[in-house]
Amino acid sequence: MTRTVGTLTVVRDPEALAQAVATCVGDEIRAALANAETFSLALAGGTTPKAAYALMAAAPLRDRIGWADVRFFFGDERCVGPDDPQSNYKMAHDNLLEPLGIDPAHVFRMRGEDQPAGAARQYAQTLRRELGSEPQLDLTMLGMGPDGHTASLFPGSDPLEDDAQLVRAPYVQKLAAHRLTVTPRVINASKLVLVATAGAEKAAALAAVLRGPRDPLRYPVQVVAPGRGRLVWFADRAAAAALP
Ligand code: 6PG
Repeated sequence: MTRTVGTLTVVRDPEALAQAVATCVGDEIRAALANAETFSLALAGGTTPKAAYALMAAAPLRDRIGWADVRFFFGDERCVGPDDPQSNYKMAHDNLLEPLGIDPAHVFRMRGEDQPAGAARQYAQTLRRELGSEPQLDLTMLGMGPDGHTASLFPGSDPLEDDAQLVRAPYVQKLAAHRLTVTPRVINASKLVLVATAGAEKAAALAAVLRGPRDPLRYPVQVVAPGRGRLVWFADRAAAAALP
């Protein structure tokens, strides 16, 4: 079965992927800020975003974007404190937010150090307070794991379970840990969703996700389908190797 999956851009290697992602994010922010006062960006964890953040925080992108007008959110978080090496917030802080000198009042992190269910409820309130009762992010950045997970929606439980909520705290069996994650409801309300993935270990999953039958229990990233927004996939050649 073939599905409409938005656009897929394949680039040479992980460095080119980070560049493509950083450029896409930068172009989107610049274009939107021509007509709006602020831009809401949900950040992701993972290796590709990390490299992209470093490029966004360096010339020329550093100087071309009205970073002071961007509001930073998170798509998912590990249940650790903000100084923990595992924290997605710490990664974004060290590679993007601090180098750009972003005002901490413009950064809305998930509180991984709190009790997970309470932290999820609190982040849902944050999203509603900052973005309205039906939060619509301007851009949600995502990655995809070799198992087809995205944000912290992992295989084995229905990613659409509890989709009435905005944020959940699923217990992920294979990690033996809780995670915090926005739900597909939030992802799919975004104006733009960008999924970036690199490496040969993603090739089988990417082909199954984009060309295989719909099976979000197995490949949660298949639920990504922004209703009124756009979806762009970026992959390096290794990740795209199993696609026809
Ligand atoms: C996280 C992420 C996660 C990530 C994928 C892909 O917190 O780890 O948000 O969903 O995007 O695991 O990660 P890589 O880009 O490192 O392969």
